[in-house]
Amino acid sequence: MNHIVSERIRQTPPSFIRGILKVAESEDVISFAGGLPNPISFPQEALKKSMNRIITEYGSRVFQYASTAGLLSLREYIAEKYRGQYNLDVCAEDIIITTGSQQALDLIGKVLIDKGDSVLLEEPGYLGAIQAFSQYQPNFCGVALQEDGPDIAQFEEILQNRKVKFAYVVPNFQNPTGITYSEEKRKAVLALVRKYHCILVEDDPYGELSFDGKVRGYISKGELNESILLGSFSKIVTPGMRLGFMIIKNERLRKYINTAKEAADLHSNIFAQYCLYDYVLHNNLQEHIQNIRYLYKEQCESMIKAMEMYFPKNITFTRPQGGMFIWAILPEGQSAKALFEQAILKKVAFVPGDPFYTDGRVANTMRLNYTNASKEIMVEGIRRIGELCK
Ligand SMILES: Cc1ncc(COP(=O)(O)O)c(C=O)c1O
Repeated sequence: MNHIVSERIRQTPPSFIRGILKVAESEDVISFAGGLPNPISFPQEALKKSMNRIITEYGSRVFQYASTAGLLSLREYIAEKYRGQYNLDVCAEDIIITTGSQQALDLIGKVLIDKGDSVLLEEPGYLGAIQAFSQYQPNFCGVALQEDGPDIAQFEEILQNRKVKFAYVVPNFQNPTGITYSEEKRKAVLALVRKYHCILVEDDPYGELSFDGKVRGYISKGELNESILLGSFSKIVTPGMRLGFMIIKNERLRKYINTAKEAADLHSNIFAQYCLYDYVLHNNLQEHIQNIRYLYKEQCESMIKAMEMYFPKNITFTRPQGGMFIWAILPEGQSAKALFEQAILKKVAFVPGDPFYTDGRVANTMRLNYTNASKEIMVEGIRRIGELCK
């Protein structure tokens, strides 16, 4: 088969997480592996009403082919939100609705990466971005993440020495680490991408899930001519609707992305777009998000408490201020993958850090998701991992 399939797909790693989810999500396993939002946060009743209402109101239009950029009223809603909430100069024309922000990552790869091009990203970085970009065979340049964001000296060294096509960053409650960039690091990144004329891709599916409710501004602040901002409804409404969006002020770049999207799927699910628009029109999304924040804050605190109680003291971990993940670091030289093999036998799962790095290292790190387990189950799962670590 190898001689039939493209080099491109041969070199794209299958998703490690999707692979282990088959084992991890079986009923008797306590899983901190997936990045699943808590299903109790899905506004099912309201969405049911929206579905009925849009069929009555719009008839066949909700089942018809539609424009590639997406439903205009939904794009106008997003633009208004970004003007009000983030003080960004955005209008509906700057927005393309995508099939989750995951599709946006694929489109970015398709439009910007030629084989061998340099792409800067955080190390550890979002696995789905590594996978999406890998299809286009880039040369990954990893920048180490520190407690308050990327290592700025390393960031600059890479931009200085390589012709980097774009820098991909997740500044708020990053996946997998839960780390949030400080104001200073945001400013430093902005100055660097400006200085070296590098496109900035800011991916922000978790920004609104801040435990303190504070809005953290964007690095590009709409000031960069060549920047792409990604947003998603997956973590604040439902992931199954597969709706995300790209904000691209640069018209030429936006047109190329639009062409790539036409070729990929013509447009994202229009029924879901109508439904989501009706939902935000008839419900208070901000109040809904506030409830999710309370829920996840409590779940995060429970997990941290359990980790403090059951993990040996030589394991350190992040204390996120929002989002969905905690990142734990085992002592130097230990393999989180080896620990994972044992954990599965004890019916508890997490994601070992290895697939979040692009250099193939054996990682002593692991990602734990806290949004999708009850407090009691969470404590038991952490206790089991803690026992194994000892
Ligand atoms: C950083 C990041 N970007 C993008 C995505 C993709 O999200 P979606 O396609 O559901 O919008 C995820 C999902 O977990 C993520 O963590």
